[in-house]
Amino acid sequence: MSDRVYIFDTTLRDGEQSPGCSMTVPEKLRMARKLVELGVDVLEAGFPIASEGDFEAVEAVSREFPWVQVAALARSCTLDVERAAQSLRHARRPRLHTFIATSEIHLKHKLKKTRQQVLEEAVAAVELARRHVDDVEFSAEDGSRTDADFLEQISKAVVAAGARTVNIPDTVGFSVPAEYGEIIGRVVQALGDCAVVSVHCHDDLGLAVPNSLAAVQAGARQIECTINGIGERAGNTSLEEMVMILKTRPDCYPYHTGIHTEHLYSASQMLSSIITFGPQPNKAIVGRNAFAHEAGIHQDGYLKEKSTYEIIDPRSVGVPEGKLVLGKHSGRHALLKRCQDLGFDLSKSELDDLYHRFTTIADQRKKGLMDEEIVALIHAGQKVLGVAAD
Ligand code: KIV
Ligand code: ZN
Repeated sequence: MSDRVYIFDTTLRDGEQSPGCSMTVPEKLRMARKLVELGVDVLEAGFPIASEGDFEAVEAVSREFPWVQVAALARSCTLDVERAAQSLRHARRPRLHTFIATSEIHLKHKLKKTRQQVLEEAVAAVELARRHVDDVEFSAEDGSRTDADFLEQISKAVVAAGARTVNIPDTVGFSVPAEYGEIIGRVVQALGDCAVVSVHCHDDLGLAVPNSLAAVQAGARQIECTINGIGERAGNTSLEEMVMILKTRPDCYPYHTGIHTEHLYSASQMLSSIITFGPQPNKAIVGRNAFAHEAGIHQDGYLKEKSTYEIIDPRSVGVPEGKLVLGKHSGRHALLKRCQDLGFDLSKSELDDLYHRFTTIADQRKKGLMDEEIVALIHAGQKVLGVAAD
């Protein structure tokens, strides 16, 4: 089995459909350009039946990036599939992604259909989609809570009908890694090399990334994810975390993606500037504090040898440089280094004086001091000492 894992980005679809994340067509196009630069394998641009904007977004992304595999989502029914196919008509590499719920909970309360009906509708939708495009993906919504025998049966049926990718979502983020790995392993076993098995995890229990990793170990070769982990409710698998785990720990996860990781930070920044919120400061890989070291002991070790406290070179994800936060826990070493970086060569007594004034201010703060404030403190000290400021 190949060790190449395909990255299916759904920032513009699952991500976009969550609160505070709506994007206009020009915004989706701007974000799509960044995702293309990042090297995602499949770019899901919308759910065309859902709105005119989604339809236009799929069409616009297909026209603008004809060499990219663009996906459009459709429920497993004629209207949706036809609409998605129409939105993809300018794409050179269209993927039609059709889904239907398969769990008993969804069948009983939402669809009010039998397993047989769902199976027949899934097969019919895939057959219809195949009349329009070669590349069809089928998703068994709420797959992780679906009866294992039925999941296997429907997976085999949609592949026989022409699906090339079978996605088993953990739609409500309920699964745990060992269990999800087992579910995926069984589908992988059943399909052999007739289709790529894909995973799509939600983060309701904070397990979207661990579940996706377990799935890859069980044989899944497509991961559906989003920038900054945005998506329905608690979000989807975070693209940047997933990719960097595979890159940082090949000893445990011997798989690779086609992502150009040096664009991860700018992709995160761009998304934050388009939607209404950014990642939390302590978010792995792209959070403001992801490469910040504040504790004096950490700063001392980091300054002596970066690998003491840094497992990823910030430049490898596009963050200019690991920057020490100068706050109340910081030590002299870090303050001296920042002064040197800011172009000031302080004597020991100047540093002592600066450090005293710096800690007095930092002690009363929750946040660290900004570079401009450090410079102001240096200037104030030099005035007191009678040294020319410039
Ligand atoms: O979470 C989910 O099940 C989905 C499917 C439509 C793929 O988003
Ligand atoms: Zn989803």
